[in-house]
Amino acid sequence: MSHKIVLLPGDGIGPEVVAQAERVLRHVAQQHGLTLDIAEADLGGIAIDRQGAAYPASTQALAREADAILLGAVGGPKWDTLPAAERPERGLLAIRADLDLFANLRPALLYPQLADASSLKAELVAGLDILIVRELTGGIYFGEPRGIRTREDGEREGFNTYIYRESEIERIARLAFTLAEKRGGRLTSVDKANVLEVTQLWREVVSRVAADYTNVDLSHMYVDNAAMQLVRAPKQFDVMVTGNIFGDILSDTAAMLTGSIGMLPSASLNADACGLYEPVHGSAPDIAGQDKANPLATILSVAMMLRYSLNAPEAATAVEQAVSAVLDSGLRTGDIAGTADKVVGTVAMGDAVVAALDAAA
Ligand code: IPM
Ligand code: MG
Repeated sequence: MSHKIVLLPGDGIGPEVVAQAERVLRHVAQQHGLTLDIAEADLGGIAIDRQGAAYPASTQALAREADAILLGAVGGPKWDTLPAAERPERGLLAIRADLDLFANLRPALLYPQLADASSLKAELVAGLDILIVRELTGGIYFGEPRGIRTREDGEREGFNTYIYRESEIERIARLAFTLAEKRGGRLTSVDKANVLEVTQLWREVVSRVAADYTNVDLSHMYVDNAAMQLVRAPKQFDVMVTGNIFGDILSDTAAMLTGSIGMLPSASLNADACGLYEPVHGSAPDIAGQDKANPLATILSVAMMLRYSLNAPEAATAVEQAVSAVLDSGLRTGDIAGTADKVVGTVAMGDAVVAALDAAA
């Protein structure tokens, strides 16, 4: 059986990091006897330029047939002056909604080789391994009504709707509990139930679902406290589950704890385990096209793809171990380099991962 993969290189450094990840994917697939059918399509700014829409119909047709999608990054200064509804980011939101990718998994893992890169003291983050599970297709990002309107008195006002149905909360909660069961057995649900009714319901539903997962230790935390705890004592967390906007914010905080956003992969899954995999970092237009970008987050996104969508956990582990071996050897792209490290470019980092896969085979 061949796996249908769609690559969406996107904007900025996206094409460079996806190119290296594609090499790694093809290589590990060959090593593990996986057959891939790989296509490429436009998403984001490049799609606006070439096809007049951030998520064009041609991309949609391929994406809907895919088993898994690998995305680089979208957006850049070139499109920053467009109205909100036409920006490259809308392409990302559109594909998430179209494929019902409701579950966003964002691991924040501190590589021991990079312990000094964190902005926190090494002892606070040594061994850090948090998984943020963010609801991705609901909440205030998608709630209606939304817009900017003029009041009767002539003043303009902007408005969005923060809304969650019980079924939306339940499905993300169940997934988070299942993941917590496989990890450290602890789940923190993050809300603002002291102020927002929508998250009162969130807390109620998560608590109800907990009855089916008695081996998971559930706690609830207000989002402001969670933000504080993440930078105060992050190792208290195992899995965190939260809604779309809180997850957006907390996952960037958690990423920074590792000191190396260029290392962090993510997965966005639907109920059929079709997934969109992407690095947590953005399109970094300032270094695009200079062979400076760190491809490891995208390569680690390939590992997540192998694990969650292609049912190839051994190949996934092989990629993760190859990345770790490359870090052991002292190779670093500029974003994660200390003074004593060998700084290499995007392509050389891809070369090194491919070589490490061979060395381990
Ligand atoms: C992310 C990004 C996106 C989001 C933007 C680019 C729409 O910040 O994936 O976290 O807010 O979800
Ligand atoms: Mg974000």
